[in-house]
Amino acid sequence: MKANTRFKKAIISSGPTREWIDPVRYISNASSGKMGFHIAKEILSWIPNVVYVHGNVSDKYANVEGAKNVYAETTIALRDAIVAELENDTLVIMAAAPADFRPIMIAENKIKKETTVGLMIELEKNPDILMALNASLKDKKYDSSVLIGFAAETEKLEEHALGKLERKGLKFIIGNYVGKSNTGFGEVDSSIRIFSKDGMIKEINNQPKEILAKGISDFLKEHA
Ligand code: CTP
Repeated sequence: MKANTRFKKAIISSGPTREWIDPVRYISNASSGKMGFHIAKEILSWIPNVVYVHGNVSDKYANVEGAKNVYAETTIALRDAIVAELENDTLVIMAAAPADFRPIMIAENKIKKETTVGLMIELEKNPDILMALNASLKDKKYDSSVLIGFAAETEKLEEHALGKLERKGLKFIIGNYVGKSNTGFGEVDSSIRIFSKDGMIKEINNQPKEILAKGISDFLKEHA
């Protein structure tokens, strides 16, 4: 395999973000951060300058040795942390699962159940980080930086993945099935498919995330 030396920096995001409803409750998702953590470790073997930006992951996925480790709690904080690190010749891998919505207001005190029969929480859309990064790269004319996304889907993987690749200006998108009856989130074995705009170009089936991460890193080293 030929070595890829063109990237000066890699930014890997990982894990879920949190959007607070009140001082004790938040909206989040089931992402563990395991995939992003292992990708960051693998990428370090060929891009020495790695920034690992993570949401609320467990301690074991919070620190990639040899990387700059940055914590971002909310989707907006995650976007800002990545934009601040963006340069030319940067490989950005968005393995994080940012919350897509946030409450319009965060209640100052714990919402008490006695005060209401049910509860309506009004949400507004969070920014799409990859779209913001794509706009930022164009704006700054950072033409030699590359964006890689994930597509976590419960159905129609290829169709949704290719739609996201196009909308978000990605070079490659890594698709996987998630949900209760599938194996995408958390500690279990999983399968991934890598798509370019021309369709699927690589698949790795039923492997632990450590092995998938190495497969993804090796693929990007050669093709990104
Ligand atoms: N992503 C992002 N900003 C968001 C949400 C997601 O940059 N606010 C990134 C994810 O890190 C991933 C890719 O976009 O690399 C696709 O994320 P996914 O959750 O599969 O899709 P969404 O774009 O959020 O669309 P939907 O939830 O409608 O499937």
